[in-house]
Amino acid sequence: ATTLGSAASAKGKYFGTAAAAYKFSDSVYTRILDSEFTMVTPENEMKWDATEPSQNSFSYAGADTIVNRAKANGQRVRGHALAWHQQQPGWTSSLSGSALRNAMVNHITNVATHYKGQLYAWDVVNEAFSDNGDGSRRNSNLQQTGNDWIEVAFRTARAADPGVKLCYNDYNTDGVNAKSTAIYTMVKDFLARGVPIDCVGFQSHINSASPLPSDYQANLQRFADLGVEVQITELDIAGSGTAQANSYASVVKACLAITKCTGITVWGIRDSDSWRSGDTPLLFDNSGNPKAAYTAVINAF
Ligand code: XIL
Repeated sequence: ATTLGSAASAKGKYFGTAAAAYKFSDSVYTRILDSEFTMVTPENEMKWDATEPSQNSFSYAGADTIVNRAKANGQRVRGHALAWHQQQPGWTSSLSGSALRNAMVNHITNVATHYKGQLYAWDVVNEAFSDNGDGSRRNSNLQQTGNDWIEVAFRTARAADPGVKLCYNDYNTDGVNAKSTAIYTMVKDFLARGVPIDCVGFQSHINSASPLPSDYQANLQRFADLGVEVQITELDIAGSGTAQANSYASVVKACLAITKCTGITVWGIRDSDSWRSGDTPLLFDNSGNPKAAYTAVINAF
């Protein structure tokens, strides 16, 4: 039977989902996970708080569970996320300056080395730009260690795993706006200066089923034209019925139209699995039945 993954594969793209290790005892969840998807992103298990709960003491059990299940199923894995202002372990809050910078570098080196050769891509830096409309950096503890923290993160990841694709990942970057343009400028600068970056992730947490920003495809295309891969990394679209289905189809068509758009990942399986379940933003209902949006995705491929 056609699945999300097989429909995407027929066009040379992957179709992924976020997955949570604690749900692997749920047979409805694992049936859909194993049959429909060709890429998996650990929803929380690779974040800093999960992988380094005490400083320089690493914990990979949850993430390894997901990576090993994916491998056994022939699925690839996107790593998420090495450096982010959220979901940091408590101990980082007492660090700043070079101590925090060194802790970040040590974290990236350890985690990227543990998964060396096993992942398709890493979200090296997540959500580093602000939403205030002026294209500035978010004022986080990592930003306060110096403006070069992002390029240091990318160089550190590359040194640890030369083969994995290194991505910058963010939200509210769906259309051409101050935030996406600031990221565009950073990527262009990185490429010009030889800072290693291979891909840009567009989370695509869409707040209303319609319309999708009319320049969604054009925005992704301008990044692809720089020479980086673009990936839709955390797709979910609030809404229901035809409006939601049409928006999902538009996202698929945008990716299909861009050679360097390599795939789409939805941020969970059933609506009840979503971090914003009240928005019913996913492709399967709470019982695991495919929604209209599911059929629209299959047909759009
Ligand atoms: C979310 C997870 O889905 C939740 O389970 C968790 O409680 C909070 O984080 N942007 C990201 C993701 O990059 O890591 C976030 O995931 C959603 C927003």
